[in-house]
Amino acid sequence: MRLIIFGGPGSGKGTQAKELCSRLRITAVATGDMLRQAIAEQTHLGRQIQPYVEKGELAPDEIMIQFIQQRLNQPDVAPGWLLDGYPRTAFQAEELDFLLDELNQRLDRAIYLEVPDATLLSRSLHRSRMDDQPDVIQRRIQLFHDRTLPMLEYYERRGRLLRIDGDRPLEDVHHAILNGLGIAL
Ligand code: AP5
Repeated sequence: MRLIIFGGPGSGKGTQAKELCSRLRITAVATGDMLRQAIAEQTHLGRQIQPYVEKGELAPDEIMIQFIQQRLNQPDVAPGWLLDGYPRTAFQAEELDFLLDELNQRLDRAIYLEVPDATLLSRSLHRSRMDDQPDVIQRRIQLFHDRTLPMLEYYERRGRLLRIDGDRPLEDVHHAILNGLGIAL
């Protein structure tokens, strides 16, 4: 199965991605985690994107598109994948479709975790990552509205969107996703 999961900062993408991947035996590709690791290791990529991630800005599309292209060509993801945090702009979504055409693959569903801004803020504030400062979280929420939410229409038009109420206990969200994917509990 090939899935993407998107939602605001703190919507539960990473949490649900782990559960789903272990259940479906597919690989999670979490761009935020990979970028933070690249920054910690000060790789070439890490140095390039550090100023963006620290301020809560989106890393440039060209860098992200190339990054995903390399990742989805690796053998471990051949049986299936779940992209957590990618695509994040309508442009990235279009480019992902081009890439999947090249790879002869097809996206099954785009899962949108719908969570109110107040919940996004309070969940993110309870962590202590470098990009979890209040002003940085506000910027990430704003960019989510401006740049990521337009993807709803993109996937809705293609009949791929699975909209999930993410403002509920973890287990309930997990069950709603499985149900939406047509997977028995
Ligand atoms: P990324 O790491 O993807 O950050 P994010 O989207 O802001 O999401 P988070 O990781 O903060 O939250 P999450 O939705 O995964 O929630 P989680 O499960 O952790 O990206 C970081 C940065 O990298 C971006 O700002 C950008 O700079 C850059 N970047 C990444 N991808 C990019 C791209 N494609 N293009 C350009 N730039 C990119 O949960 C949060 C907390 O809430 C946890 O404590 C959890 O336990 C709790 N929680 C989760 N679900 C529930 C629930 N149902 N009830 C109660 N608590 C819950």
